[in-house]
Amino acid sequence: MTTKPVRKAVFPVAGFGTRFLPATKAVPKELLPVVDQPLIQYAVDEALAAGIDQLIFVTGRGKGTIEDYFDRQFEIETDLEAKGKTEILNALGKTRLKPGQAAFVRQQEMAGLGHAVWCARHLIGDEPFAVLLPDELLWNPADPCLAQMNRTYEAKGGNVISVLEVPEEHVHRYGVIDPGAAEGAVTEVKGMVEKPKREVAPSRLAVVGRYILQPEVLKVLDAGKKGAGGEIQLTDAMAELIGVQPFHAQTFDGARHDCGEKAGFIIANLALALERPDIADTIRAYARTI
Ligand code: G1P
Repeated sequence: MTTKPVRKAVFPVAGFGTRFLPATKAVPKELLPVVDQPLIQYAVDEALAAGIDQLIFVTGRGKGTIEDYFDRQFEIETDLEAKGKTEILNALGKTRLKPGQAAFVRQQEMAGLGHAVWCARHLIGDEPFAVLLPDELLWNPADPCLAQMNRTYEAKGGNVISVLEVPEEHVHRYGVIDPGAAEGAVTEVKGMVEKPKREVAPSRLAVVGRYILQPEVLKVLDAGKKGAGGEIQLTDAMAELIGVQPFHAQTFDGARHDCGEKAGFIIANLALALERPDIADTIRAYARTI
């Protein structure tokens, strides 16, 4: 099957980060570090590794430092260079995107994830695109989540979302799919519902923040229909494409850390720190004492 390659990725980063206040009062939650790089960098790395070449950030008030983060910082760079601190200088390399590679658009009201994605419609245009929610740290550096999904997209076309099985008592926090036939990690999607009560959830397969979508979903979002929580939900818009376009869920092979909540964020720091040769022993030794 020939599919149009996915070249653009949307990063919704306008949220207030209420759960991390006061830490997020003056620092966007997407810039909170996991070990030594901000959450947003993990999502950007994942997108670039999957062949994305245009990054669209949907920001909001108080999120200007995300734009600064992806800019050059001449003073620091010149200073590091003069001092011969090349290792640190090299670590900054990944924060420098190619000229014109990043675009920023504002979501002026917190009207839901569907609304955030819709705010990027003029930049997305008429081509397939990815959406990555940076709160969800999906960790498999050898085969990142979006790369796994891209292979499924190339085979099946249409829309592909990442899912993971969650405990029944947690389904109300997520978009949940109604699964059809499965082949290995790929499951056909027959339906989808945002934040269902556990009694009516169609499965325990929750959408975990990665999407490859066709531009038609933006037309559905044009209607601005409100769903769960009075918000314009991406899940509801996607559900309207089921049956019209191919729709598959990819069970993510890797570790998922929900960095949108405190415990998940701390666990992500521990888990990733244990993969760093320079600090792993110290962290492990301390963890044994507690
Ligand atoms: C959003 C989506 C939901 C998805 C979740 C993953 O919800 O609306 O479908 O399962 O992200 O983290 P939020 O966490 O913004 O409430």
